[in-house]
Amino acid sequence: MENIQTNIFYEIDKQKNKDHVATPRWVVEDIYKLIEIESFNNIWFPFNNYDSHFKLYADELKLRYKATHIFDDLGNDFFKTEPPKDCDLLISNPPFSEQNEIIKRTFELVEQAKIKSFCLLLPLATLETPTRAEMYEKYVDKLSILIFKKRIKFLNTKGSFNKGCCWICYNIPNLKRQIYWI
Ligand SMILES: C[S@@+](CC[C@H](N)C(=O)[O-])C[C@H]1O[C@@H](n2cnc3c(N)ncnc32)[C@H](O)[C@@H]1O
Repeated sequence: MENIQTNIFYEIDKQKNKDHVATPRWVVEDIYKLIEIESFNNIWFPFNNYDSHFKLYADELKLRYKATHIFDDLGNDFFKTEPPKDCDLLISNPPFSEQNEIIKRTFELVEQAKIKSFCLLLPLATLETPTRAEMYEKYVDKLSILIFKKRIKFLNTKGSFNKGCCWICYNIPNLKRQIYWI
């Protein structure tokens, strides 16, 4: 059963949290098609609450998934939550301000064989900095970077929050090249 109080906290947080930029449906439809999402059996959406298009579209496609979010009924913090059993794909738009720690933990989950592959939607600046470069370099053999030709206008944002973005994808069988413009 939904926890009304938790949902109220979430709705309030959405109004003021700069990290809550919600992904539009077209971005979700595109990536699901590009990676052939239906070929994955146990998907994890770790930053996704009831209103996320990742989750809503997954319901339409009848995908098998677990969606968790810091404001869900269990307060599922990504840094403490375990992926679903036999998770073969983590996919989400994470809070950009915490991207370094999120990328780090995501690769740790790969190392621990708790997830097989992932797709993270991140700002283009994710490709900068020595810290992130070092993490990406280490796994470069199985990485694909999908660069958006146009900036994304995220939902839930005031004014014109249009951001240049890319998908950082790891070990996705359907992606044959290391770099794509989408
Ligand atoms: C960029 S938004 C994206 C929301 C949704 N994934 C989408 O694409 O529409 C990131 C979300 O992650 C939530 N969040 C922040 N820190 C988190 C954490 N440690 N664990 C789980 N969720 C977190 C934020 O509240 C925010 O709603």
